[in-house]
Amino acid sequence: MAPSDRIRLAYSPELASRVLRHVGERFAEHLARSQQAEGPVLPWNAPAENVARAAEFLGAGESQPGEDVEAVARRFETLVQTILDRGINLHHRHYIGHQVAPPPPLAAVFDAISSLTNQGAAIYEMGPWSAGVERAVVNRLGEAFGLPAGGFTGFATHGGSLGNLTALLTARSIQFPGVWQNGFEAGPTPVLLVHRDAHYCVDRSAGILGIGTSRVIPLALDGDRRIDVPQLRTTLADLRSRGTPILAVVACAGTTMTGTFDCLGDIADVCREFGVWMHVDAAHGGGAIFSERHRHRLQGLERADSFVCDAHKMMFAPALCAFVFHRHPDRRYATFAQEAHYLYDPTASGSADFDFGLLTVECTKRAMTYTVWGLWSLLGPGIFGDLVDATCARAEEFAEDLREAPDFDLLFQPESNIVVFRYRPAAWQGSEEQLGEFNRRIRRTIIESGRFYFVQTSVDHVGALRAVVMNPLTTRSDLRGLMDEVRATGQALSAAGVPV
Ligand SMILES: Cc1ncc(COP(=O)(O)O)c(C=O)c1O
Repeated sequence: MAPSDRIRLAYSPELASRVLRHVGERFAEHLARSQQAEGPVLPWNAPAENVARAAEFLGAGESQPGEDVEAVARRFETLVQTILDRGINLHHRHYIGHQVAPPPPLAAVFDAISSLTNQGAAIYEMGPWSAGVERAVVNRLGEAFGLPAGGFTGFATHGGSLGNLTALLTARSIQFPGVWQNGFEAGPTPVLLVHRDAHYCVDRSAGILGIGTSRVIPLALDGDRRIDVPQLRTTLADLRSRGTPILAVVACAGTTMTGTFDCLGDIADVCREFGVWMHVDAAHGGGAIFSERHRHRLQGLERADSFVCDAHKMMFAPALCAFVFHRHPDRRYATFAQEAHYLYDPTASGSADFDFGLLTVECTKRAMTYTVWGLWSLLGPGIFGDLVDATCARAEEFAEDLREAPDFDLLFQPESNIVVFRYRPAAWQGSEEQLGEFNRRIRRTIIESGRFYFVQTSVDHVGALRAVVMNPLTTRSDLRGLMDEVRATGQALSAAGVPV
């Protein structure tokens, strides 16, 4: 095919219309089947098999002379079918896996519009509407979190890991002003005090920020696996008496492993007392602010110096869409003490506040807030609360069923949509480590069967099972079905003499 014909085809409005209509129809069928729990959740294929299959398409990608819209559209349909057939199906009721949402199709379509129009979200003039949307969403979200109007800075970024890093960078730049230019050479390097179960990205941030992971101090936890506040006070007093600088205390509003919420108000009191920056990783639990039932778990979040909330977790937006908030708006440009004259035009007075790139690591940034804005505008903020309530209610029911079953151990009472448990057959004779291994084998067998997708974790170095109810259409009977599946698989593995 001649280059000019190929370019015309690539931008053909007719082809665009055809493929978009096809995706709409095909996805609707896929969604309906998923809601009936039909087909596999995870169509398991070994990595090499998927790579080879994907490479086959690349090899067949050459358009033939004279090929028209019709021919490309037909080949497009095969690719779409393959994506649906071979991908993990988050919309399946038996997807009870990682903290990634099956997005409501409306939200996902806004994400697709963001791709189609490719609006920049870092510089106002590159994406005036997307910047307007981001500002409006940030303002309303900040309000929902109880932040004082005009007393905070907020922006969207590509994920909770980047969000935590950026917030901690803000903490570093504000409290240790020369570090951007000179590193920590001029004075002692600070320590970072962290919830022992914090997501690994916090530890990574310490490495990236030049603090060093050996200066991350894991905080003692109480019996409910929350930061032990009296112990926190003792640790801070001890560090202060030794003159050790402290970058921040990192609390969690929904830990990754168990979904546990720290007592944020008490931690805020202690941080105020010692004049220490309080950061909260609310990547998972931030969405609870929209729920009448669960909002109380976030009490005190509004007093944190900074926090992060992933909309692609409990606000059910497609990945990635995360928000960072901090309460130092007068220092908002301190995070990156850097200038980029070719991007930011000093003659456009007043637009710098909409040049979100001044606040983020990203230069090119997706118009990621269309998803939240679209859903909110069409269904109201209540939709986020409904989704949180539905998934957390299922998790509570599941926990109840596990607690009542003599052959299951419920390891933590869920506070959100995360349930951690083990199967323990009545006649179990092995060690706890072997039980952990046995549970891991059960899970691997089940997920490769395609019947359920759930995840594994380690609790005090022993393997355990973890279900995250991310699909609001998952039913109690689906979760009972998972228990039956675990039992049946365990019995089959034992009968087959599979060693643990
Ligand atoms: C509590 C918590 N913080 C941060 C992250 C990382 O967020 P992201 O995957 O958006 O980078 C996760 C991911 O699961 C998480 O659970």
